[in-house]
Amino acid sequence: MDALMRWLIETGLPPHGFCLLWQPQLVALHVISDAVIGLAYFSIPVALAWLVLKRRQIEFNWVIVLFAAFILACGTTHFISILVLWVPAYGLEGIAKAFTAVVSIATAILIWPIVPKILAMPSHAELQRLNAELVREAEARAHAEEQLRQSQKMEAFGQLTGGIAHDFNNLLLIVAGNIERAMRAVPQGTPAARNLANALTASDRAGALTAQLLAFARKSPLEVRLQEVAPILEGTRDLLAQASGENIDITLDIADDLHPVLTDRNQLENAMLNLVLNARDALPAGGKVEIAARNLDNEVEIVVRDEGAGMDEATLAKATEPFFTTKPIGSGSGLGLSQVYGFLHQIGGRMQIVSSPGTGTTVRLFLSTEREAHGARLAG
Ligand SMILES: Nc1ncnc2c1ncn2[C@@H]1O[C@H](COP(=O)(O)OP(=O)(O)O)[C@@H](O)[C@H]1O
Ligand SMILES: [Mg+2]
Repeated sequence: MDALMRWLIETGLPPHGFCLLWQPQLVALHVISDAVIGLAYFSIPVALAWLVLKRRQIEFNWVIVLFAAFILACGTTHFISILVLWVPAYGLEGIAKAFTAVVSIATAILIWPIVPKILAMPSHAELQRLNAELVREAEARAHAEEQLRQSQKMEAFGQLTGGIAHDFNNLLLIVAGNIERAMRAVPQGTPAARNLANALTASDRAGALTAQLLAFARKSPLEVRLQEVAPILEGTRDLLAQASGENIDITLDIADDLHPVLTDRNQLENAMLNLVLNARDALPAGGKVEIAARNLDNEVEIVVRDEGAGMDEATLAKATEPFFTTKPIGSGSGLGLSQVYGFLHQIGGRMQIVSSPGTGTTVRLFLSTEREAHGARLAG
């Protein structure tokens, strides 16, 4: 024990201060520098421990422990350097250095394998990118779900409406037939005759409405095939002008090399009529309605644009829903845009509406130029 103590601490050699000839400046310089380095070294494991405690998910703890030991050992050698200025503990100093050497070599070797692992951890920018991607995916899914709900609603409405409209139409035929028979029996010019004439007009209007309902419910036969749209659009010019009244100025700008598209003639005419009537309603004081058609990649785009009242966000969100209308009872059925929507769905096309209050409304119809448009129900 005594021998060990002598070898470690009381070596009998002169202390290190003796080598410095006890010059106060030199001694102070060594003491202060070693003390500062030692304290700095000792503070590092504290910071590491704090980090590891706060970030529980940090792996490779054993390397961190080894690194902490290495730093502590380094700090300790500096404090021993201060000690040996006065105490000739060269054995202790040597052992501390040997321990530091072992730990530092182990750390230096073991730190290499973890570098690739750390590099493989996603960087902050990468995490942000992945997060943005997730958000985008979630939004896309929500959008798809919303569309599915919308088309399920359309489907259910379609079945309900089709059933009602069909029965209703049969009843209307009986009503109209009986009114006509009664009109023949009543002398013309009498109040009763006028009442009957009004009743007949109303039942005609009801008949037109049921026809629209049936079209919406897809109970009327469609003839979807590849065909030229320019003649169909040109052919509606008079009808549209008549229907929208003289306050509305309709311009047609149809490219003359339009590709044939998958469509049904009657439904397309009906859709154009619905869109132009909506534009007219949005322009109570009159104005311009522009209709244009041009080729896109695999589609033909038909645009109907007005500079009318436009729609706010809430209206726009519901505009294509069946029976949604902002118009007074008697002037809106809420079936116009839903017909257009349902029709495009049937021919594998799509519709886009851009609208805001004050700037007007632009409705774009995209009709497929491919024989096998997705979801299209072809004739035959
Ligand atoms: N061009 C347009 N400008 C402004 N609002 C429109 C336009 N087209 C449609 N809308 C809005 O969408 C609603 C639904 O239109 P629609 O389905 O055609 O039914 P309806 O015309 O019978 O009201 C309208 O009541 C109106 O509020
Ligand atoms: Mg309408």
